[in-house]
Parts: sequence; C-alpha cells; structure tokens
Amino acid sequence: MKYFIANWKANKTLPESIEWMKTFLLSYERSPKKQIVVCPPLPFIIPLSQMIAEVSGIALGAQDLSAYEQGTYTGEVSARMLSGLVSFTIINHSERIVHFHESATMSFQKSKLAHKFGITRFYCVRGIEETFPEDVEFVCYEPVETISSGDGYGNGKSVEEILTVKTNLLLSQKTQFLYGGSVNEKTVHSYLSTKEIDGLLIGGASLDPERFSRIVNSYSE
Ligand code: PGA
Repeated sequence: MKYFIANWKANKTLPESIEWMKTFLLSYERSPKKQIVVCPPLPFIIPLSQMIAEVSGIALGAQDLSAYEQGTYTGEVSARMLSGLVSFTIINHSERIVHFHESATMSFQKSKLAHKFGITRFYCVRGIEETFPEDVEFVCYEPVETISSGDGYGNGKSVEEILTVKTNLLLSQKTQFLYGGSVNEKTVHSYLSTKEIDGLLIGGASLDPERFSRIVNSYSE
C-alpha cells in the first residue's frame, strides 16, 4: 500500500475545493494498493466528506489539531471535535514550528490526543535530531530546505539520502515511513520505486487535481 497525502495548506475556497474533488474523482485510477488522504483547510472537511462517502481508497485528514482536548482555547479545533470527521492528521509540520513557534511538547500532546480519539497520525520530522512519539503510525521525513514555495518544484532529497535518514530514525516495526518535500509529477517515480518509502506528503503539486492525479496514477504496482 502506498499513501498519497495532499496537503493543501492555507489554499482554496469552498467552491474551489468542491471543484478539485469533482475533477480528482474523475481522473485518478483507483487501486486497493493506493490510499489517498486529502488534507483540506478544516472548514471544507464536511462538504468534501459528503462527496467521498461512497468512494473507497480516499479519506480526509486534518492539517493540524489542537494540543488541548477542550476548554477555554479560542480558535482551537480539537481531536475530540475532529473524531469521526477525519481519519488522519498531520502533526508537527515544520510550518507550525517556523510560523507559529509550536514546541515539541505541544506536538507530543497533539499526538496523544489524536491517538485517544482514533485519528491516525502523520508525524513530521525535519531530521534525525527531532524526537517523535514512539507509537505514531507514520513518521514523515520532511527536510525544511526541500519544501517548495508552493508550486511543488524545488530540490527534493534523493532516495539514498532519505533512506539513510530512515535507518537512523530507528523506527519501531509498526511505524510506517513517508517522505515529503517538493514531490511532483517528475520526481514521484523515484520515491515510489522503493518499498522502503510507504508514501508521500505532497503540498504544492497537490493543489491542481489533474496534476495530483498524474502523481497518483504514475504508481501502478
Ligand atoms: P511541497 O510541500 O510538496 O510543496 O514541498 C510539502 C509539505 O510541506 O507538506
């Protein structure tokens, strides 16, 4: 199974999200070997979930969630609220750390709450020096310097470099391994040619549904 995770970040309006999903559903090749996880901005989760209710192999994820379960935290969206609405969540994305100064303690707390409410975690790390909760389902290696400025074109890491990092992360046997950083239609093939990479976190190149379909469709094992 390969995971294709679309991280839209702070992009799109509701009509654009709906249009994206319509186009994507018509253009991507379904397969029991592929799991698509679309991570839209939170307000679009309910309308999009209605569009995929009958479709297998595609699910929704949150781009982030609160480090608090509930209470006096204005603006926060908690794992408790998201439970039942999303199956997955990204945690510890470097943009949370760089732009919002979130700490490792907060990310660990988010991870704990996601787990408590049955949400599968894509836990991002920037390198081997970064700690992660041992029980996470997925660790996603995302070196900051490879993250694109929004179009999906940038200098991604080579498969060799990625696999060296994977070895040094000493993942538990239950933890799957993802890569993210400038993955696009030109580079996807190399990343999916190894069994060692279970999937990809795709930002800029996921914003156009046809482009994201080409990425997904390029995997045909
Ligand atoms: P990118 O973003 O594919 O545009 O480099 C990846 C990410 O930050 O999740």
